[in-house]
Amino acid sequence: MTSPRPPRFPYPVGPDGSRRLVYGADYNPEQWPREVWEEDVRLMREAGVNVVSLAIFSWARLQPTADSWDFTWLDEVMDLLHAAGVGVDLATATASPPPWLTTAHPEILPVTATGETLWPGARQHWRPTSPVFRTHALRLVRALATRYADHPALVAWHINNELGCHNVYDHSDDAARAFRDWLRRRYTSLDALNQAWGTAFWSQHYSAWDQILPPRLAASHPNPTQQLDFKRFSSDALKDHLLAEREVLRELTPHTPVTTNFMVMSGIKGMNYADWAQAVDFVSNDHYVVPGPQDRDELSFCANLTSGIAGHRPWFLMEHSTGAVNWQPVNVPKRPGELARDSLLHVAHGADAVCFFQWRQSAAGAEKYHSAMVPHAGADSDVFRDVVGLGGTLRSLAAVGGTEREKARVAILFDWDSRWAAEQDSHPTALLDYHREALDWYSALLRLGVRADVVPVPQSDFSAYDVVIAPVLHMVPQTLAKELTRYVEGGGHLVTTYFSGVVDENDHVWLGGYPGVLRELLGIRIEEFGPLPEGDSVELDLDGAPAGTLWTDRISLTDGDTEVLARYRTGAYATRPAVTRRTAGHGSAAYVSTRLGAQGLAGLLPALLAPAGVSSELPEHARGVVEQAVRRDADNRYVFLVNRGDEAVALPGVSGEVLTGRTDGGVLALPPYGVAVLRQAARPGGPVPAHM
Ligand code: GAL
Repeated sequence: MTSPRPPRFPYPVGPDGSRRLVYGADYNPEQWPREVWEEDVRLMREAGVNVVSLAIFSWARLQPTADSWDFTWLDEVMDLLHAAGVGVDLATATASPPPWLTTAHPEILPVTATGETLWPGARQHWRPTSPVFRTHALRLVRALATRYADHPALVAWHINNELGCHNVYDHSDDAARAFRDWLRRRYTSLDALNQAWGTAFWSQHYSAWDQILPPRLAASHPNPTQQLDFKRFSSDALKDHLLAEREVLRELTPHTPVTTNFMVMSGIKGMNYADWAQAVDFVSNDHYVVPGPQDRDELSFCANLTSGIAGHRPWFLMEHSTGAVNWQPVNVPKRPGELARDSLLHVAHGADAVCFFQWRQSAAGAEKYHSAMVPHAGADSDVFRDVVGLGGTLRSLAAVGGTEREKARVAILFDWDSRWAAEQDSHPTALLDYHREALDWYSALLRLGVRADVVPVPQSDFSAYDVVIAPVLHMVPQTLAKELTRYVEGGGHLVTTYFSGVVDENDHVWLGGYPGVLRELLGIRIEEFGPLPEGDSVELDLDGAPAGTLWTDRISLTDGDTEVLARYRTGAYATRPAVTRRTAGHGSAAYVSTRLGAQGLAGLLPALLAPAGVSSELPEHARGVVEQAVRRDADNRYVFLVNRGDEAVALPGVSGEVLTGRTDGGVLALPPYGVAVLRQAARPGGPVPAHM
């Protein structure tokens, strides 16, 4: 395997030779007759589109039978785009195997936990571990890379598409074989595996490797460590496919950067993107807003986490929508202004590319009611006018390209192992939602106007942050516990929550009382969990008497340096501590034992942030309404001010050159959903806390 290479981002270059932000879409010309292509290219120029992703679902068109190839149409599209100054992020086209392949080789089809085959007819019907699929896929990748290696339109490779979107958990015999190989590498011996999986329980002891299976439908709860390892394995199996395609591309086109579109968004859990980030030359993400009370917080949270995954370097927004999607029960369009605002929120959090699914709305197929840059109504539409407007805005923000996100003082940790382990079955509650708890903390900080970074655990340098919030950090190996202790003793302020520190990396409980390996650091001991049935709540003796839901703990203090910040007023643990903080070394470690939700946390957070001296960067009237995010390089800071609400907001005393947005007599005017971007001189040694 080749060694990691520095990330390379496919920046387009303007006519004056200057760097531009990427603007574009998935482009599916094979769905349209030739004459539409001409119009497409003309409209792309009008909109300022400079990169498109091409051939994502074109396998059947490129290789109509096992032994025939047809590249002529793609040659023509590539040439047309190049002539129009549009670069191509060319897909390896392996996402949807053609009918000739699945007919000849039904053994590539994925199998569910209940033994059902996922038949062809949609997309992504392939087993990540199928050697037959791998052979055919790599043959296609080789053919494409050979043909287009020197095409001037080629700016990047787009491996497969949303790996794992539909096929992350395959329980086939291929998967069983690959799972055993993976386990052999992890544990070396069966004894070690038996120990790690706790197979003394329910007579599960294995005496030969080939007795081991993926967690297929069983009579009762499958072994938890088996389930957890299967999640780890399934993420690795897809990454292995990614690496296999990448190796062919690196061999044939070593100068073209390679990416694949991640799906950092709520509801997608199977792929450990923090681990995948090293496998690509630049990180790409797809994000769709699922309407709900915290929907734009969620957008910001995911963009922020994507930036963390990308090591704070610029990343590529490969897909989002101009309006409605087609896969919700009810598919609501965006309101005027939301298209641009959502896009710019991604840019604020480090995206140097703004791309949509898709360029032209399909007339047929399962996604014909999914919005696009050119809707069914055609170019004479508000959507297309907004698309053209956004192209202009992105041109005015070209200077932002290549800058990093400025580090915040507060970090929220995001840990795939904890997420996978905490949400398994046969737990104190089935209602726990890891992503939602992390998002609640983020929402609370947004309400207060406090910037935070969302960072994946293995990459995090805790010492860079004054406050580290670790919601539901359930799985804490000894090494991580030591790191957190060092962080706190060195002056950091740790905040963690219910169901944290409970198990080790094998999902075995740390004994002696919860929160296990964090007990000493937090100065508390919990003898029993008190999860709350849906609809139940307890009151805390904080201002505003916020309600706790989901979880409570029976807490005792074990250290003279632990103070009680809040107690339960009602419920089984009334009068006992609910929120605690222990001062340790130069820092502190706080524990929140119940789910307070965004509003409750916003009430509690000022007390948790106070020891670190972290407070809002926004004037009172803008808190919760305006989101502030900052990008910077050595010379400049780019301050993004985003109006999250549907009322205008005025920000007085703003300084810096306005790259986009409006000022009225020295007052920055943010219309509903409006975004302003200011350029300020960077003070050496930044970060600079406030924009005013
Ligand atoms: C993504 C996918 C696209 C399209 C889009 C619709 O999951 O990559 O091909 O299906 O969703 O929202």
